[in-house]
Amino acid sequence: MAQVVDKIVNSTVGDAKKRQMDSFTIEQNNKTPLTSYFGAKIAETDIALRAGARGPTVLEDFHNREKISHFDHERIPERAVHARGAGAFGEFKLHTSLSDLTTAKILSDTSKTTPAYVRFSTVNGSRGSADSVRDPRGFAVRLYTDEGNWDIVGNNIPVFFVQDAIKFVDLVHAVKPEPHNEIPQAQTAHDNAWDFMGLHPQTTHMQQWIMSDRAIPRSFRHMQGFGVHTFRLLDKEGKSTFVKYHWTPHLGTHSLVWDEALKLAGQDPDFHRRDLWDAIEAGAYPKWELGVQIVKEEDEHKFDFDLLDSTKLIPEDLVPVQNIGTLTLNRNPIDYFAEVEQVAFCTQHIVPGMDFSSDPLLAGRNFSYQDTQISRLGVNFGDLPVNRPVCPFMTNQRDGQHTMFSKTNRQAYHPNRHDILPTTEPSKGGFHSYPEVVSGIKERVHGPKFNEFVSQAQLFYNSMSEPEKKNIVSAYQFELSKCYETEVQQTALNRINLIDHGLAVAVAESLKDVTVPDAVPNHGKKSEFLSQITGKNQTFTAEGRKVGIYLLPGYSYAQVEPIKLALTAASMMVKFVGPGTGKVEASNGMTQITEFTFENSRSTHFDALIFIGGDSDDYKKKLKNGRLIHAARESYMHLKAIAATGNAVDWLTDLALPGDLPADAKSKTEITEANGVLLAPSVGTGAEFSEKFISSVAKHRVWDREVDHIAA
Ligand code: HEM
Repeated sequence: MAQVVDKIVNSTVGDAKKRQMDSFTIEQNNKTPLTSYFGAKIAETDIALRAGARGPTVLEDFHNREKISHFDHERIPERAVHARGAGAFGEFKLHTSLSDLTTAKILSDTSKTTPAYVRFSTVNGSRGSADSVRDPRGFAVRLYTDEGNWDIVGNNIPVFFVQDAIKFVDLVHAVKPEPHNEIPQAQTAHDNAWDFMGLHPQTTHMQQWIMSDRAIPRSFRHMQGFGVHTFRLLDKEGKSTFVKYHWTPHLGTHSLVWDEALKLAGQDPDFHRRDLWDAIEAGAYPKWELGVQIVKEEDEHKFDFDLLDSTKLIPEDLVPVQNIGTLTLNRNPIDYFAEVEQVAFCTQHIVPGMDFSSDPLLAGRNFSYQDTQISRLGVNFGDLPVNRPVCPFMTNQRDGQHTMFSKTNRQAYHPNRHDILPTTEPSKGGFHSYPEVVSGIKERVHGPKFNEFVSQAQLFYNSMSEPEKKNIVSAYQFELSKCYETEVQQTALNRINLIDHGLAVAVAESLKDVTVPDAVPNHGKKSEFLSQITGKNQTFTAEGRKVGIYLLPGYSYAQVEPIKLALTAASMMVKFVGPGTGKVEASNGMTQITEFTFENSRSTHFDALIFIGGDSDDYKKKLKNGRLIHAARESYMHLKAIAATGNAVDWLTDLALPGDLPADAKSKTEITEANGVLLAPSVGTGAEFSEKFISSVAKHRVWDREVDHIAA
């Protein structure tokens, strides 16, 4: 089989990974009879072999035993962290060569398209937990290069909680559900998590990121990804340059609002997984730019933070991100277990022309991933289809559970008398480590700059826009209110006070028994790149956004069609919501198929909502529906773009959102806009309406809308 596969693949051109995966895919259909595992055709699989109709079941029934026994062993251990995730295949195309910095072909050959795979995940929850929880997101990318698999096992946040991998175990034991009752699932809103964070100054910067909107992304398609650590690139002379990796989404970096995230955890626990799947099925392939921050070897010490400290980022104001290639996800998996559960990323998967830095967190990861895959998948996990490189791979590793291939090599050791599996010199492409000069005393210490914990946390907070700051306050209030020990709240607040006294005062407003410490100075510096609302290089587009169009029998066909066409032309996903599934008839007898119903969906499923009017007074009566009114109020509360057409304007201004919209909008003929709500008594050709609506959706949210009084 190995030879067959290698023959099929042989080189990494374009769809090499797909061709390789295809060779491992078994077609099953109505022409392929059911058999036992050893190939015997099965005549009966519904009733076990029994000693008479009312007699005992007999042990002899090998099919019954095989079926039940295999089922008994279907589960494997879920990942120790990042258990919940979704994956997809795609491709990576380099557009700007780094050939002056590295010999790695993946970063220097712009003619190649390299197969790619990405698994997105949450960190804390178990495999069946909800997608929308407050948590960092894993962003693990594998590029199946000509020179081996390159895994960038990153997160959607550029920094990490702890500086040294030895602390990772404590961190995970603290942030996972508490051990006595396994509550709460998939979130840090509990005493142990905040006890740990309060007692570890090194978490101060990461805390800001997880309390910000970054920890509740709108979708995987709207997330940045970061390699986090500093890595090395090596050129043909062996010269080393430091590099950090960034993935920037073409759709911009955007988030949910917290109330929406909370509701989605129940309304659609698969929200992110579904979004990714649907987008790929619809041909709206998510794309990211791979960016690099390059630091010359001689500049290693010029920053006031240590490049080896993963709790610090390199501000883009100091070192710009240069985009060098595009990642596109364009293929959903065929079999979730085989292709997502069994994918095994490892930070130590790098290719010639690259190397690690001495980041102590990375060093531990380079041990941990390989090790943990063994307990999840066994020592031969690298042979599994999704994990196999597309270039030839030949090791002297032997045996172990589930050895799949018969290797012809009779001398599985090196060197051997036949020179089987010869090594490759670095000048001919063999992997070679950077000969870093190291000297020092063996001791348990970090570099002195590791001991500064507050500066970048302040930089992050100072760089946020007002709505983002408000969201950080609410997030802290929510999390700390779920800590039942005052001591934990107080320690956390003391740490928050070191970031910003105003922030600590605001957070303390909802915590009764704490004292805000005296003010300490905030350096006041800002970065132009960190805010999702005002940050430089942020993208605002309506492309790929899901719009729910709500209609009832008797709706006005003329109000729907032009809008549907215009939004689809703007690459938005248009979804219809009606009283039931199937066709809804317009007043002119035309029909529209609805995918969602008022009952099976909530406003949270959509980025923006349009309520369509009808041609009769009877239609207005039908609009008086609790679910519809709730959808309008809820989406208004979640700061989304909303629109009403025809006599739905009347309904929206008077019934759904009384007092929040101009009551006279219905008596006008022109389209008006108030609080991000488009009111169109007449849609006309649809051109003006669509243009205004698309531009409103592109803004992502209406940040200055007042919603404290809204109950939904
Ligand atoms: C910068 C810090 C870190 C980042 C960005 C990170 C990221 C990730 C990601 C994305 C995954 C999921 C991989 C997948 O989708 O299959 C993962 C899993 C995991 N991580 Fe990390 N991690 C970090 C730190 C650590 C450290 C320090 C350790 C251990 C010392 C660790 C141990 C693990 C383990 C055991 C898994 C489960 C892997 C599996 O079973 O497939 N991580 N991490």
